[in-house]
Amino acid sequence: MSTAILGLQWGDEGKGKITHLLAKNADVVVRFNGGPNAGHTVIDRGVKFGTHLIPAGAFYPNTLSVLSSGMVIDFAILREEWNMLSEHLGWHPRLLIAENAHVIMPYHRVLEELEGSGKHFGTTRRGIAPTYRDKSAKLGIRVGDLLRPDIALARLELRLSFLKREWPDAAEIQGLSAGSLLEEQLAIAAPLLSCIGNATETISHAMSNHQTVMFEGAQGTLLDVDHGSYPFVTSSSTTFAGLGNSIGIPNPQVDRRLGVFKAYMTRVGAGPFPTIVSGALEERLRTTGGEFGVTTGRPRECGWLDLVALRYAIQLNGCTGLAITKLDVLSGFDEVKVCRSYRLGGQLTDKFPLSAEVLERCEPEYDVVAGWDEPISQIRDESELPESVLAYIRLIERAVNVPIEVISVGPGPEATMVRN
Ligand code: IMP
Repeated sequence: MSTAILGLQWGDEGKGKITHLLAKNADVVVRFNGGPNAGHTVIDRGVKFGTHLIPAGAFYPNTLSVLSSGMVIDFAILREEWNMLSEHLGWHPRLLIAENAHVIMPYHRVLEELEGSGKHFGTTRRGIAPTYRDKSAKLGIRVGDLLRPDIALARLELRLSFLKREWPDAAEIQGLSAGSLLEEQLAIAAPLLSCIGNATETISHAMSNHQTVMFEGAQGTLLDVDHGSYPFVTSSSTTFAGLGNSIGIPNPQVDRRLGVFKAYMTRVGAGPFPTIVSGALEERLRTTGGEFGVTTGRPRECGWLDLVALRYAIQLNGCTGLAITKLDVLSGFDEVKVCRSYRLGGQLTDKFPLSAEVLERCEPEYDVVAGWDEPISQIRDESELPESVLAYIRLIERAVNVPIEVISVGPGPEATMVRN
């Protein structure tokens, strides 16, 4: 049995909690995109973690956690996370790092600052876009290169020669030396070098032997580099369509594709957000929902649930089921709004536009439904949920035509109702 956990909004849907919960029964958990721009909040035995690179399988002793190709890896952050988890768990997480994943080098972060793209696009400033750009330009350093220092050195020398020509006046670039960069990376990555290997072979073997494999998506569908609100996106494929390519397995047989979405919406960084709210309402959602970035600490913009975007994301991922998170945050609202369609140039549309500029002009058309007063975070049995919560869930299911299989009413693993 294999499962993919996919974010259906602009990231921060609560994938970390759901993956951590389901990873308990997994033999292998695979992260397949992005890098330390992700921040997955996990509560393990009462301790809260914001993980950036290590998949949720790391919390279980018999589970292999794979950082697959398709990812970009900052070894300084990975090492820190590995140490932190080892201390918490009392053992070292079992990791496999794909030899063909790419390394985020210190100059990638420098480039993001020098170019000003971090500011312009509201990125996480973790060097993500410059690393993916180097990968496509064939100027990247791959994880496996660290096992062949002579090759890594030659690649670094080539990359630095280009960079120094591009940035003649930047002291941060001119001062770089391939030898010291490599030495530094090798020292940081030293305890993890034995974890480097062929991820495709391992995943393929696990799947053909009917092991329980989970795929952990990072970011959300609307941040996908091809299908999101470009250019206000991340630089990787965040959807199920990107999974096969990332892991190197054609048409992967993933039985369950669970799309995770929040009962409302958030976005961090720049870019259009049709259902955004402001003032006291925004403040209330942000404070109650703890809507601050796990990676950057930035306050997230908040808004109502957007069914146009949700339907689009579900279709792109071929979701077989859904998980709704943070329903408890909506307790105490007299009424709850849901965007059913957009008004664009005087016309109603239920199509999510591919252009960020068009999305910017879309105005939400809302359905207003009854809210609920009761706090629901202690409820563990669906039949005890207030009728208006159940009505909200039914409304969403009817609108998107995919069942909600998981209902999350709080951050801890216990605050979850899994429906049959
Ligand atoms: P980058 O991935 O750092 O290049 O950032 C590009 C955009 O994606 C920015 O708007 C970021 O805020 C957003 N982003 C990247 N990763 C995440 C995430 O894990 N959650 C939410 N937003 C993210």
